[in-house]
Order: sequence, then structure tokens, then C-alpha cells
Amino acid sequence: MSTEATKTEVGSYFISNYPPYSQWTPEAIPEALSALATLPGSVSNPEQAAELPPLGLYLHIPFCRKRCKFCYFKVFTNVNAEAIERYVSALCQEISLVAQQPLMQDRQFRFVYFGGGTPSFLSVKQLQSLMDRLHRHVSWNGAEEVTFECEPGTLSESKVQILKELGVTRLSLGVENFSDAILEENGRAHLSKEVYRAWEWISKAEFANVNIDLISGMVGETWENWKQNIQKTLELSPESVTIYQMELPFNTVYSKGMLESQSESAVATWPTKRDWVRYAFDVFQDNGYSISSAYTVVKDPTKVSFSYRDNLWRGSDLLATGIASFGHVGGVHYQNVPEWDRYLSIILDENRLPIGRAYRPTVQQRLIREMILQLKKGYLNVEYFRRKFQVDILEHWQSEWNAYAADGYVQLPADSKAQDADIRLTTDGLLRVDGLLQAFFEPEFRNVRYT
Ligand SMILES: C[S@@+](CC[C@H](N)C(=O)[O-])C[C@H]1O[C@@H](n2cnc3c(N)ncnc32)[C@H](O)[C@@H]1O
Ligand code: SF4
Repeated sequence: MSTEATKTEVGSYFISNYPPYSQWTPEAIPEALSALATLPGSVSNPEQAAELPPLGLYLHIPFCRKRCKFCYFKVFTNVNAEAIERYVSALCQEISLVAQQPLMQDRQFRFVYFGGGTPSFLSVKQLQSLMDRLHRHVSWNGAEEVTFECEPGTLSESKVQILKELGVTRLSLGVENFSDAILEENGRAHLSKEVYRAWEWISKAEFANVNIDLISGMVGETWENWKQNIQKTLELSPESVTIYQMELPFNTVYSKGMLESQSESAVATWPTKRDWVRYAFDVFQDNGYSISSAYTVVKDPTKVSFSYRDNLWRGSDLLATGIASFGHVGGVHYQNVPEWDRYLSIILDENRLPIGRAYRPTVQQRLIREMILQLKKGYLNVEYFRRKFQVDILEHWQSEWNAYAADGYVQLPADSKAQDADIRLTTDGLLRVDGLLQAFFEPEFRNVRYT
């Protein structure tokens, strides 16, 4: 994606990692396995315990009622109860294998994330059975955050209560839009009445943090409707709101249709999508919310944090489980195999970890990864990188920062040596942050396929 792009073309994507996934290889799998097989500092050397990065657990639940026409995630629809049971069994067995790894010894999970797909697609019975089996191998009693992604139409009052009882602290609800016509056009399985019905149960359960996802630029979006979306979201008063700008990676239903028929983009232009997010940020701020990243506003930053995002963006370890999940352990990136049969048979028949590709980033690549991910929060603390990587990021990327400052996207600190010197994105910069990141990639990764 370029900062100059206007039309939402097929092939755009979010940057969520570095180096690009296309560079990870099966040849590097032994590196990931050996990282997992290495004792963490707390056991081998107690003095290193304090230096260990936080550890998170990600579990991928790849089922959905319907495939949304804009979605690029690895999801399966029309899956029967028997197939779900097989998947849940494989996931639990994968967790038991992971739990036996030396890297796990003596370490607590700081955060847990059930993502998808749609974790809330699981029935109450399937959920309870999954959690019972998981708890035989791992515990997240000490975790500061347990996130669970939900699609409104999959919830019931009892399911919401069970989620609370199972320790979910952060429930994230994929509302996306309040217009039934737009929801239907984009292939969502739910309508707005299901949002309101679910909201009563969610409010009653009193989760510490409820997040609502919206998308700026769904097909059929208008200014008038967008303003209503923001008003209706404010009326629900969630702890946080995440607003994505619609991307069209190659594997969405819309992208495939556009390529086949050589038709014009059905999605609003980037300047329009940015205007919609700018408007939303302004209205939320007028109502007491604060901007916490390029995609998120929070009602009370002193009470509501987002441990998964903040730790991941500061280089934490993440044990990723489930089909096609990606994680990072002991300095190595890895991703599980994305094929259904292969994922199941590697675990259930061969009883081994289903890692499909991996990559050991250099120190410079870890620095770039953290820098581009943290830039999505809107600021970089220069001292943080000096301490952690012994690099002055202002000096190292001087020409890139100066060019972005001249474009009006960043504000550079007056005294770059000060402890609190921050590089700050302007609102214009924040709204297009994904387009600013490639400039920091090493030259050989600038024009390669991303995934
Ligand atoms: C895994 S889904 C959330 C849970 C559930 N599957 C749902 O959709 O309600 C994560 C979020 O990604 C966002 N998303 C999916 N495809 C997108 C796209 N092409 N562009 C921007 N955001 C997208 C949606 O806001 C969605 O809520
Ligand atoms: S956006 Fe959510 S519900 Fe829709 S297909 Fe993707 S993961 Fe499933």
C-alpha cells in the first residue's frame, strides 16, 4: 500500500508483522522448535527471570456462520458438529504439546486471546468442553486480560454468562455497521437487532472491557449512515471502539469478484475512509474518549488497557495455536499450517506441533518490527529503542522522518536526546499509518508479496 493510493484497490492489507510472512520458510521450522525446547531464563538462570518478555496465548477458532464478502481471515462455514469436535480436540492436544515445551516451564500467561473466525460460534456445550480440556494443560488464572471475539448473532444470554464465568475480561463484538441494508450487502450473518439483543446480555454480565468493532468503508456506506453509526455506538457507551479502514486483500469475495469482472472498486476511496475515521475520532473525543491507536478509541485510558496489543507490539512472546495462527517465541516467528486436513492429522495422527513456516529475525529486523507496530499507537519513545536496541531511531531513519515531517505526517522532538523525546504522528499521519510503514522496511522486503 502506498501513501499516495486513492482508490481502494485489490491487494491492500494491514501490516501486522515484519519481515513479511512471505519470507518465512519451512526450512526455518527447526529454529522455532529449538526455541520452544529451550529453558527460559527463570529456570536455567534465575537472574534472567526479570528480563523474560511477557508471554501470551492465542487460540484460533476458524468457524463462522457465513463468510463476509470483505473478510480475509482463514475461516470455514457449513462445518458440522463432528468436524468442530475434531478441531477442538486437535486444538486441545496442540495446547498439551505446547505446555510440555521447556520454554513454558515456570511461566505464566500475561494475556490470552480467543480470535477467529468467530470463537462465539461454539455452542455453550462446546465452549465448556474446550475450556475444561484446556485447563488440564494450562492455566490463565494469573492473566491480566482474556479476550474473546464475538459475532452478535451467535450470542445467547447463557453463552454470555458462561464467558464471564470462564474468566473472559475483554469481550470484542463485531458490530461493523448498524444499517441492515449494508450488513446484508456485505454478507454479514447478523442484523442490527441482534446487536441490541446481545448488548443487554453483555451489559448485564459486566465485563471489565467491552470493545465494538466498526469498519469505515463497507460497501454501500454513506456520510449520513456513517454519522448514525457513530451516534449509535456512542449510545451503547462501550469501553473501547476499534475502527478499521476497509482493506481488500486478494482472498476476499469482493476482491475476487472485482478481479474477475475487471470492475471498479466497490469500496470508498482512501481519502473518504480516512475522513470517516477522522470524523469518528472527533466525535468520540468530544464525548470524552481518547485515541489509543490508529484504530482505537477508549473511554477511560486509566482503567481500560489492551494487553494483547500493547505487549505484542513491544516484542512479547506469543504462543499461537490453531490453524494458520502465527506467533513468536524466544526470538523466532512461526506460523501453523493453514490446511484443514494437514493441521488435524499432524496433531491427531502424528502427535507433533503443526508449524508450517518460520523465520528468525535479526536484531535489526526485531527493531523494525517493534518500531512499525508501535508507530500505530501514534508515537515512538526514542529512549525506549535506544535502551532496548542501542539504536537512535531518529538518526538511523533521519531522511524518512524528515520527509514525513515535511509531508505533515510526523512531529519530531525539539531535543532528540531528552529522555521523554517522542516522535509523534499528526492526525493525518495516524490515519494513514499503514501506508507509512514500508519506508522503514529493509530494501529487499519493500516490494515483495506480504503474506
Ligand atoms: C475476526 S473478526 C471479529 C469477530 C467476528 N468474526 C466478527 O466478524 O464479528 C475481526 C475484525 O476484523 C475486521 N475485518 C475483517 N475483514 C476486514 C477487512 N477486509 N478490512 C477491514 N477490517 C476487516 C472486522 O471489523 C472484524 O470485526
Ligand atoms: S469478518 Fe468475522 S464473521 Fe465475517 S467471515 Fe471474517 S471472521 Fe467470520
